[in-house]
Amino acid sequence: MKKGVNTNLLHGYPVIDNYTGAASIPKYQTSTFDQKEIYFDSKKYCYSRFCNPTIDALQKAIAKLENSEYAFAFSSGMAAITTALLLFEAGDHIIFPKEVYGGTYQLSTVILPKYKIESSFIDCSCLNNIEKHIKENTKAIYIETPSNPLLKISDIIGIVELAKKYNLLTIIDNTFMTPIYQKPLELGCDIVVESMTKFINGHSDVVAGLLATNNEKIAKEVALLQKNFGAIMGVEDAWLILRGIKTLGIRMEKSVSNAIEIAKFLETKEKIKKVYYPELESCKYYSVHSKQATSGGAVLSFEFYNEEDRKLFLERIEIPIYAVSLGGVESIISHPATMSHACMSKEEREEQGISDNLLRLSCGIEDLEDLINDLENSLK
Ligand SMILES: Cc1ncc(COP(=O)(O)O)c(C=O)c1O
Repeated sequence: MKKGVNTNLLHGYPVIDNYTGAASIPKYQTSTFDQKEIYFDSKKYCYSRFCNPTIDALQKAIAKLENSEYAFAFSSGMAAITTALLLFEAGDHIIFPKEVYGGTYQLSTVILPKYKIESSFIDCSCLNNIEKHIKENTKAIYIETPSNPLLKISDIIGIVELAKKYNLLTIIDNTFMTPIYQKPLELGCDIVVESMTKFINGHSDVVAGLLATNNEKIAKEVALLQKNFGAIMGVEDAWLILRGIKTLGIRMEKSVSNAIEIAKFLETKEKIKKVYYPELESCKYYSVHSKQATSGGAVLSFEFYNEEDRKLFLERIEIPIYAVSLGGVESIISHPATMSHACMSKEEREEQGISDNLLRLSCGIEDLEDLINDLENSLK
């Protein structure tokens, strides 16, 4: 019988320790394993860079979350993304969205060219535009939807069809939506990557990443990279994420319902020029987004008309922490121009529509009334 999201998050993968029966998978804090006796299943475990029972349990949980055959845990979202991009070789070309996450942008513009992997950064919200940029040596389309910080939406199903037509792989960064609300592998993507630092762990205390796929050939290559590139996750971090995953459903539900109400509230405020949130009917991407995701997520951005109002707002706001990152139980407010997008020039930012008066809010699970009161007071 098909079970609900929260039941699956608590019981849908091995949650009991095979060896001891412990109700929480223990932290197998060990680098190596005595191999004189046969413990667990044969000699699967011999060295923790290759395989560790705590990390193994997390990888099974990720496979359940993403509904994938294969799942891999990494020491950061960037380690997962780097691993995905190391599947390509000299002479290959990859298409990225113009507003791709800053770390992915630097990886593709500064590091991958050393290995002769070429990249183009284009507006991926338009399928014709993507098709125009496909070249002889193009091997993949990389998607990030919703994008950061303007929550721009790319049509996943359309891109997958286009990729199939040209025999390209599709890789998607699903960090903002999480597999709770958007399941890219079910929509036909080949590889999903995600920063587990954000909603999946959810408590702003771990840096981690995942990669999932249904393709056996890709999985074999990823396993080799995971082992030999070596960006494996620490045992303590894996344990914390296993704990975080159990409440992912209810955390997301509360954060998203806060985000919807806050987006609607901000839309009515005269000091706010524009609210960016894909579940608002005023959002031009609303219909594409609702075809591929079941919620607008917990992140929204909003732009002030002028700098003074934006500064006063930030001085007055009390509840959200002012920080980079997103996806914690606590609300997090950030200023893209000086934080996540500071590595771009002002002209590049403006070209993308990222104004200096734009703020991004990752909604936490605080009481809505308190968040609204805080916003109201800070906007006065
Ligand atoms: C959309 C997105 N992808 C990837 C990353 C990188 O993740 P990590 O910081 O876990 O390496 C981030 C981090 O902010 C992100 O926002």
